[in-house]
Amino acid sequence: MSKKILLSGVKPTGRPHLGNYFGAMKQFVDLSNDYDSYIFIADYHALNFIQNKEEMKENIIGVLLDYLAVGLDPKKVTLYKQSDISEHTELTWIFDTLTTMPYLMRAHAFKDAEAKNKEIVIGTFNYPMLMAADILLYGPDVVPVGADQKQHVEITRDTAEKFNRIFGDTFKLPEPMIMKEVAVVPGTDGRKMSKSYNNTIPLFAEYEEIKKSVMGIVTDSSGELPQNVYAIHKLVRSEDELKKIYEEKKGSYKEIKELLIEDLEKLIGPMRERRKEFEKDIPKALAILKAGGEKAKKIAEAKMDEVREKIGINLY
Ligand code: TYM
Repeated sequence: MSKKILLSGVKPTGRPHLGNYFGAMKQFVDLSNDYDSYIFIADYHALNFIQNKEEMKENIIGVLLDYLAVGLDPKKVTLYKQSDISEHTELTWIFDTLTTMPYLMRAHAFKDAEAKNKEIVIGTFNYPMLMAADILLYGPDVVPVGADQKQHVEITRDTAEKFNRIFGDTFKLPEPMIMKEVAVVPGTDGRKMSKSYNNTIPLFAEYEEIKKSVMGIVTDSSGELPQNVYAIHKLVRSEDELKKIYEEKKGSYKEIKELLIEDLEKLIGPMRERRKEFEKDIPKALAILKAGGEKAKKIAEAKMDEVREKIGINLY
C-alpha cells in the first residue's frame, strides 16, 4: 500500500524559534519515514512582510538550511519553494472567485491586523486562499502545524468542499495534525512564542544567546513552580524528572535556569553545528531545493490540468 501524504510549510520571515521547531519542524522529521512528505518554503506568503530583495534571498536560504539542519533528509522528503511552482498562485485566483469577503473577514490573522488598525494589504487578506492552494494541489492526508494555523486548515477544507460541490469531486479534504503538548509553545513571557511578541528562543541560538534568553524568562513565584521556566523546560526533559528536580531546587530559580540552559544547549548545539556545515556549501543546498521543485511541479501541474478541465477552460 502506498504511504499517506503529508504536507507543510514555513514562512521565510527570519530566524526560526523553538515554537516553530516543536510545533511543526520536529514533526516533519519524526514523520518523514511514515509519510510521503512535501515540505516547502512559503516565500510568497513572506512577501506580505519582507519587501527587500536581499533579505528575501537570505531568508529563503535560511529556511532551507534550517530544514536540512533539523534533519530533513531530501531522499525522503520533497523540499521546495512555493514560488517555483506557479500553480500555487494560479489556483489561488480560482479559489478567490469562489470565496466571499465576509467569509475571509472572519479569519484570525485578518481580524488581528484589523484590531491593530493596520492598513491591510490584499495579500494578507487573501492569505488563507494561497494556503488552501498550497495544500490542495498535493492532496495531502495530513498537515502538521501549530495551533495558530488550525483555522487556515479549516478554511482549506471549506474551500475544497465548495469547489467539489460546484465542479465535482476534485480535492481531498486534509486533516490538520496538531500535537497537543506543543500546540502552543510558550515564549519567555508565558505568551505564545512569537517573533511579534519578542519572547522567542531562537532555534539555532549560540550558547550565549540561549543563556541570555533563559535568564530573561519571566519568573512568577506566586505558584508552586516557576511556570514559564517549567513550560519551556518540559519541551526538553521529561515531566517525571522535572518534578523531582524542581522540588529539590525549590526557590533556587538561578540553578533551575542554569539547568535549562544546559538542557537546551544539548538539543540546539548539534543542530547549530550541522547548520554551519550546510552553510559552507549553499549551491549544494540550492540544488536540493531546485530538484524538489521540479518533482513537486509535476504533481501540481497534473492537478491544475484537472482543475482547468473541471472549470471549463481546457479547450485544446
Ligand atoms: P509560520 O511560518 O508562521 O510558522 C511555521 C510553523 O510553526 C508553528 N508555530 C508554532 N507552533 C507552536 N507554538 C508556537 N509558539 C508556534 N509558533 C509558530 C506554526 O503553527 C507553523 O506550523 N501560514 C503558515 C505557513 C504556511 C503553511 C502552508 C503551513 C503557508 N502555507 C500550507 C502548512 C501548509 C505560517 O505562517 O507558518
